[in-house]
Amino acid sequence: MQLTEFVAELDALSAAATSAFDSAADAPALEAARIEYLGAKSGKLKDAQKKLGGVAKEDKPAAGKKFNEVKTAIESAFQSAQARLASGPAKKASGPLFDPTLPGKPLRIGHLHPITQTIEELKDIMGRLGFSVADGPEIEDEWHNFEALNIPADHPARDPLDNFFLSTAQVAAKGTGDRGQGTAKNPKSQIPNSKSTGPLLLRSQTSTVQIRVMEKTKPPVRVISIGRVYRPDEADKTHYPMFHQIEGLLVDRGITMAHLKSVLRMFATSYLGQDVHVRFRPSFFPFTEPSVEVDMHWNDRWIELGGAGMVDPNVLTAVGYDPEVVTGFAFGLGVERACMRRHGIEDIRFFHQNDVRFLSQF
Ligand code: DAH
Repeated sequence: MQLTEFVAELDALSAAATSAFDSAADAPALEAARIEYLGAKSGKLKDAQKKLGGVAKEDKPAAGKKFNEVKTAIESAFQSAQARLASGPAKKASGPLFDPTLPGKPLRIGHLHPITQTIEELKDIMGRLGFSVADGPEIEDEWHNFEALNIPADHPARDPLDNFFLSTAQVAAKGTGDRGQGTAKNPKSQIPNSKSTGPLLLRSQTSTVQIRVMEKTKPPVRVISIGRVYRPDEADKTHYPMFHQIEGLLVDRGITMAHLKSVLRMFATSYLGQDVHVRFRPSFFPFTEPSVEVDMHWNDRWIELGGAGMVDPNVLTAVGYDPEVVTGFAFGLGVERACMRRHGIEDIRFFHQNDVRFLSQF
C-alpha cells in the first residue's frame, strides 16, 4: 500500500470520527460512535492499524507516526464529546447543592399611590379637627355643580369649553322615569337627588358635595370631601384634566372668618410642619362672600393651594338653611398641589405615568 494512500485514508477516518463524536446527542449515541471508530475488535481505527502492515518497509516509520497522531486526535475528540454530554442539562439539575445560608432575593412590596396616601393623611388630620368625610358622585347635574352654588346660567364657569359635559346628557334630560336603578342609557338615574333636568357633566369641583350634604343634613355641619374633579385643561407641569380636591364645610351659629383661618392653619401645620404660614388674598367665588385665595408659605416659597370664604347666603337658602340663623365657611384645596409641595415633586404628570421608579419613592 502506498504511503500517500494510507495517509489519505487516515485523514478521512479522523474527520469522520470527529464529526460522529461531535454530533452525538446523548450517551447511547456516543457509545455507538465509540464502538464504530474505537472498538477494540472491529473498530475502524483497528482496521486502519492492520493496514499498517501492508505499507512498504521504508515508509513504515512515517506511516506509524501518522497513525499515532490520528489515533490521539480521535481519542481526544471522543473525550471532549464525553465531557460535553456530562455537563449537559440533565447533569446540572443534580449539580451544586442548595445553600440555605445564602441571602434570599427580596420581594418587592407594593404600596399605596402617593395621592392615595395624601388623601388618607388629609382625612386623618381633618378627622382630628372633628370633620367627618362625605362623598358625592363624579357625574353631576348642573344644579349641584353650578346653580345651587350660586353660579347662574350665564356665568363663564359654565362654558361648555371649560367643562366635560356628557354626550348622553340629552337622553338623561328627557328621562325615562327609571330612577334609582342606574343604567348606561339613563345615567341620571345614577345621580342621587338630581333636581335638574339639564345636561350632565363630570364635576369640575368638589363644592358639589357641600350642596349634597346640606340638602340632607340639618345644621350644624362639619364635613370634608376628597375626590376627583375634571376640567378640559391641557396637561402640563401643573395642570391635568383630572385632579383631586379637598373640600371643607363648617356651618353653625356664629361661624366667622377667624374660624376658617384657624382651621386652615392647623391643617397646614399638621400636613407641612410648624413653620408654615397661611395667607388670605381677597378673591371672588360665586358661592362664598367674602372669598379668599389661600396661599401657604413653607421652605421659602409661597404656594397657591385653593380658595375659601364664608358660605354665600344664597347657597344656604338654596339648601333650605336660614342665613339669619347660621353662617359657615368653606374651602377647596388642590390635593396634588399639597402633595407636590411637601415632596418637592415638580410635575403633576408624574402621578399618572405609573413609573415605578417614581412611585416607589413614597
Ligand atoms: N371650588 C373652587 C374651585 O374649584 C374652590 C373653592 C373656593 C372651594 C372657595 C370652596 C370655596 O369651598 O369656599 O376653584
